[in-house]
Amino acid sequence: MEKIIIANLKMNLSLDEIKNYINVVKDIDPKRFIVCPTNIYIPYFNNELYGVGLQNISEYNNGAYTGEVSAEQAKSMNIPYTIIGHSERRNIFNETNEIIANKIAVATKNNIKVIFCIGEKIEERESLKTKEVLVEQLKALQSRENDDIIIAYEPVWAIGTSLIPSNEDIDDAIKTIKEESLKYGLKDVKVLYGGSVNLKNIKLLNETLSDGFLIGGCSLDPENMLKIVEITE
Ligand code: PGA
Repeated sequence: MEKIIIANLKMNLSLDEIKNYINVVKDIDPKRFIVCPTNIYIPYFNNELYGVGLQNISEYNNGAYTGEVSAEQAKSMNIPYTIIGHSERRNIFNETNEIIANKIAVATKNNIKVIFCIGEKIEERESLKTKEVLVEQLKALQSRENDDIIIAYEPVWAIGTSLIPSNEDIDDAIKTIKEESLKYGLKDVKVLYGGSVNLKNIKLLNETLSDGFLIGGCSLDPENMLKIVEITE
């Protein structure tokens, strides 16, 4: 089965760098490669040729919410995907599981496919609470209005740190996620791994049960994405 690669560019790259990015990744199948640039750059990606996603979406419908982007607006621009629940949103912008559930509801209602991020913090892992945390975070699936959801398992301590879990730990988390999702009626959900994926560890990580990878730092160079798409074919 072909693996999905998602580039989360976060708040990086200038317009010139984005134009170069678009050119370098132009031949990658948009079903296999999804790029989530900073919002203002989205119109530069032709979303019939590229898999494009937002990095975040508002939990609110259109209205007086300065600085927010609604699912209705994303739908009006045919943006196919949005990330929801990234650990930087949870930890820097204080998004709770409840807010994330609201976002999943409004995105799926507007037929935006959701890339739902979950994962434990280091202290939760050390106190052997990884499974408990994942089970709790997955409750947000109950608010969805369709099954267009990809889940990304991203241990918070592995994001941007060069640390990665063992393949065995990744597989355990993926099994838990698939079992729990099934309890909420979500069948055959794709579960990706994210956290310090790079050119050095991709071959090893490719041996896990993951259905693909969500990549931050390493995705800023589009040439890396060409290589990773090829390696994970
Ligand atoms: P990283 O980020 O690849 O830089 O660790 C992953 C992510 O935040 O999704």
